[in-house]
Amino acid sequence: MNQSSFILITGASGMVGGVLGRRFQADGFRKVLTPRRSELNLCDAVSTEPYFLKHRPEFAFLMAAKVGGIAANVADPVGSLSENLSIAANGLSACHRFGVQKSVLLGSSCIYPRLCPQPIQTYRHVLNVSF
Ligand SMILES: NC(=O)c1ccc[n+]([C@@H]2O[C@H](COP(=O)([O-])OP(=O)(O)OC[C@H]3O[C@@H](n4cnc5c(N)ncnc54)[C@H](OP(=O)(O)O)[C@@H]3O)[C@@H](O)[C@H]2O)c1
Repeated sequence: MNQSSFILITGASGMVGGVLGRRFQADGFRKVLTPRRSELNLCDAVSTEPYFLKHRPEFAFLMAAKVGGIAANVADPVGSLSENLSIAANGLSACHRFGVQKSVLLGSSCIYPRLCPQPIQTYRHVLNVSF
């Protein structure tokens, strides 16, 4: 991955995706796609594939999710699960079908690696890149 790679960040208007997008921008990446849900709705497989076909990202950071916190998940557990499964399945499937070299998907529930060295390493280490 380098600064002219085509990078897709889904959920870039959200908290996590927004931080990642600003980090890429600060690091000089010039081809970062940050579609809103109105442009790429990952719940809709029919419209997801044309987006990937048109833009052909090389790396994908799948940060989009239905997020509501613990109370919202307790109130509507199946709705959150169902939507997030669709978002994950459609995103990963499109990455596979359209030749994305590496993809990162955030787990959409509270998952913390208890034994992971802290602080958790950045995307540079995850993707084994240096620049
Ligand atoms: N917040 C935390 O502390 C935390 C910690 C660990 C993990 N996570 C995980 O990180 C992920 C992102 O969390 P967040 O706090 O950044 O969420 P957030 O601020 O609520 O942002 C959610 C993002 O997902 C997008 N989105 C929702 N449904 C979509 C769909 N069907 N298609 C395309 N985009 C969609 C939204 O886009 P629009 O604005 O265009 O609707 C928005 O950009 C979640 O899986 C969350 O569980 C969060």
